[in-house]
Amino acid sequence: PVNLKGRSFLTLKDFTPLEIRYLLDLSHDLKAKKRAGIRQNLLEGKNIVLLFEKTSTRTRCAFEVAALDEGAHVTFLGANDSQMGKKESLEDTAKVLGRYYDGIEFRGFKQETVELLAKYSGVPVWNGLTDIDHPTQVLADLMTIEEHVAKPLNKVKMVFVGDTRNNMAYALMYGAAKMGMHYVLLGPQELWPDSKVVEEMKEVAKETGAKIEVTDNIDEAVKGADVIYTDVWVSMGEEDQMPERVRLLTKYRVNMDMIKKTENPDVIFMHCLPSFHDFETKVAKEAKERGLDVREVEDEVFRSRHSVVFDEAENRLHTIKAVMVATL
Ligand code: CP
Ligand code: NVA
Repeated sequence: PVNLKGRSFLTLKDFTPLEIRYLLDLSHDLKAKKRAGIRQNLLEGKNIVLLFEKTSTRTRCAFEVAALDEGAHVTFLGANDSQMGKKESLEDTAKVLGRYYDGIEFRGFKQETVELLAKYSGVPVWNGLTDIDHPTQVLADLMTIEEHVAKPLNKVKMVFVGDTRNNMAYALMYGAAKMGMHYVLLGPQELWPDSKVVEEMKEVAKETGAKIEVTDNIDEAVKGADVIYTDVWVSMGEEDQMPERVRLLTKYRVNMDMIKKTENPDVIFMHCLPSFHDFETKVAKEAKERGLDVREVEDEVFRSRHSVVFDEAENRLHTIKAVMVATL
């Protein structure tokens, strides 16, 4: 039997396949209950705090709605709303928050920050994205694959294309390795992930039957894929890298030709969002004026029948709820 009470959720590397399975089953169950209008108040009387150094739509709103759905109270603290890190050390802030709150969510730059919060607060800490990980997103992604691909996870081939050194590329690698998936990181060599981390996940793969590959060959990578996944080429905090990323990644933009090359009529397209699939955003528009096309996926694919991106976004709510319910 799985018991996650009191555990922090900092990275999927810390969880066994059985524990991840438990969180996914709980997520499916909580989604069905919400759809049926069944309220359970599983977090009644709990207080949680959300700490955000970086901006967010999905993660923040999913935490707030999930908490309120189950009867918990939420405090939101943005980058400039508390003393943390400026007038007070992380250690002291963590110790104080642990006296008030039953759980702490953190989004920001360093993985070390979520680790320190967990170490000093004495309550469960949930990682809402760092520069090198995004575990709550991966749970939502695995859940979405289970809804849309008619195969168990350990038979699924998923290709992550683009900036294969970003938080999503790594986070998905941990989830894929644990759940026995075939995971291909597709992008230019200049942006390949740290080989030490890849080797570490290949060791995990030996136990779970997963297969982890890194390549720059589009045709070989996407053939037979069940999932094509991409993310922005420039992550939060790396804005100065834009010209270089456009230069390296233009050839890896997801288009219908790439979808066809999978030779799988049922292939699904996934993206954690937000996305620059057109020029409707300020960032994409301003980049275009500088001669930089930052679209990581063409609008035609983003809006196609292959795309499950909004189901994926919805599933952030159910999976984040599962993480809170399981750990509190
Ligand atoms: N996918 C995701 O984490 O989105 P937000 O940045 O809007 O939270
Ligand atoms: N790689 C993106 C993910 C956003 C959810 C970023 O870090 O900005």
